[in-house]
Amino acid sequence: MATKTVVVGSSKGGTGKSTTSLQFSIGLAREGARVWHVDGDRQQTSVTAITLRAESGRPTIAASAYADGRTLRTQVLQQRDAYDYVVIDAGGRDSSALRAALTVCDAVAIPCLPRTFDVWAMQDMMQLVDEARAVRELTAYAFLNAADAGGADNRDAAAALAEFPQVELLPFRLGRRKAFANACGAGLHVEEMPRRDLIACAEIDRLTAAIFGL
Ligand SMILES: Nc1ncnc2c1ncn2[C@@H]1O[C@H](COP(=O)(O)OP(=O)(O)OP(=O)(O)O)[C@@H](O)[C@H]1O
Ligand SMILES: [Mg+2]
Repeated sequence: MATKTVVVGSSKGGTGKSTTSLQFSIGLAREGARVWHVDGDRQQTSVTAITLRAESGRPTIAASAYADGRTLRTQVLQQRDAYDYVVIDAGGRDSSALRAALTVCDAVAIPCLPRTFDVWAMQDMMQLVDEARAVRELTAYAFLNAADAGGADNRDAAAALAEFPQVELLPFRLGRRKAFANACGAGLHVEEMPRRDLIACAEIDRLTAAIFGL
């Protein structure tokens, strides 16, 4: 199987890139895939979580951090053939790592909170996707993260996101659930938590399958 490289990115901070990319990487590794988690964030949030995982005695996942875009690009191109999946946490904002990652990936998955400012920020991200598409074919998915349990905001945000022709809005969303935050804080998948949140498990499984083509 050819390596599939997926960037979890957005030009807005705090949308759940580290949270969702970690759940993707650990989930795929649990299925037996060879996964490489690449952290493009200066804060190295996701590599820190994977280090905690290793300390807890769970099977480790290959993880590297490259905050500089040029290094990230070179390393991904050099090393990715050893893996089935490369998952890149592109870090916050419009970083050089995000731009570089978009030029080496097969797909970008864009988490978006169901909030007006976050939907506005998609415009910016679409520009980056368009620029990347000038040099490489690239699938773009958007999904709602930390969706509300009720109210009209999820629906309104989804309707606004569906207006962007460059991106496929996935019909699978992640709810705002403590299970995601707690699992990531321990370097675990929601399936590995002592008290499993079954809805969180089902949500992340469906989303992972849709993005990684399982
Ligand atoms: N689905 C969710 N349910 C509950 N909490 C969530 C969810 N997604 C993210 N969070 C929480 O929201 C905060 C931001 O998430 P995260 O750090 O993953 O975002 P990020 O996009 O990586 O941020 P940055 O741009 O700073 O890198 C964290 O506290 C995280 O635990
Ligand atoms: Mg992050």
